[in-house]
Amino acid sequence: MKAIRTGATPSTLEALELVELDDASAPGPGEIKVALKASSLNYHDYAVVVGMIPSALGRIPMSDGAGEVVAVGAGVTEYKVGDAVVSTFFPDWLDGGPPQTAFTRVPGDGIDGYARQAVTAPTHWFTRVPKGYSHAEAATLTCAGLTAWRALFVDNAIKPGDTVLVQGSGGVSIFALQFAKAAGATVIATSSSGEKLERLKDLGADHLINYKEIQAWGVKALELTGGKGVDCVVEIGGAGTLDQSMVATRVGGHVALIGVLAGFAGPVQTALLMAKNLRVQGLTVGSRAQQLDMIAGIEANGIRPVISDHFPLERLADAFRHQAANKHFGKICVDI
Ligand SMILES: NC(=O)c1ccc[n+]([C@@H]2O[C@H](COP(=O)([O-])OP(=O)(O)OC[C@H]3O[C@@H](n4cnc5c(N)ncnc54)[C@H](OP(=O)(O)O)[C@@H]3O)[C@@H](O)[C@H]2O)c1
Repeated sequence: MKAIRTGATPSTLEALELVELDDASAPGPGEIKVALKASSLNYHDYAVVVGMIPSALGRIPMSDGAGEVVAVGAGVTEYKVGDAVVSTFFPDWLDGGPPQTAFTRVPGDGIDGYARQAVTAPTHWFTRVPKGYSHAEAATLTCAGLTAWRALFVDNAIKPGDTVLVQGSGGVSIFALQFAKAAGATVIATSSSGEKLERLKDLGADHLINYKEIQAWGVKALELTGGKGVDCVVEIGGAGTLDQSMVATRVGGHVALIGVLAGFAGPVQTALLMAKNLRVQGLTVGSRAQQLDMIAGIEANGIRPVISDHFPLERLADAFRHQAANKHFGKICVDI
């Protein structure tokens, strides 16, 4: 089978290599063999392939994998040949609180991922997909979809009448916009681009802020809520955006600390955090049980992922260049 592997350390996109590997083995008891048909790009995958996150030499990248079951091992009852499945981000985190293993067991990081044509794995590494989804659509759910779901509905309980602020137009943020609208919330969306803001409006965003033009966008969001503040910020910037996120959030509100696009570390306005009784909660994706809840929620609301671009597996490096150039809107998918 064909696969993509990272090259020598320090990694570069140029070092990604297309290799021919042995086919995935026949499934043993409790395992399924999946013919992988699609993956999707996350910033986390980019960080692995360019060496920002140290990983093993020759790692097969990509945390997201969707495809079709082509063989089942003894004792498997959850799936049959022909079923469409999608991978989970933490294969061993089935339910309950976050695991201690951090990223050591995450496909495409601590272990080999899904930039390949087939994999054989325990059944619980995968879940079913929403009815009617293509493989590419399913492949957007593992990381970006579940992260947005957890921010709004596991670590918070967003409901009609709430206000959610989403930052930028990447994978996590657009899922958060779609989920928040499905829950009946008002959405304030930010972007660096006027054209992308118009597309966010088409997806249901109620208020738009260009964060390049309005640097105090947290103050603007506060104004848009009549001075009350938003119930939840889906914080994908991190150090460089947290201050404005805290300004935007209501007293007793929640900042879902997800990303690092605006820096890994920096000073925090601790007095503001305290005075507003804020809950700033870090999160890393979610469990298999949460993924199944998300899939049911997606089906109930007819949500379809926003995919701006498709690249074939052989052009994975070009897909990452496209992501790094910030040309995407929502998700970039890889067809395998
Ligand atoms: N903790 C977790 O479990 C988890 C899970 C998934 C992702 N993440 C993290 O979340 C972040 C986003 O991931 P992603 O996969 O959604 O990335 P992505 O699809 O590549 O999204 C990037 C988008 O973020 C926006 N952006 C960049 N810098 C920004 C800033 N300073 N302020 C506001 N928006 C900004 C840009 O939107 P515009 O072009 O519209 O400005 C850009 O297109 C990354 O740091 C990633 O590592 C964390």
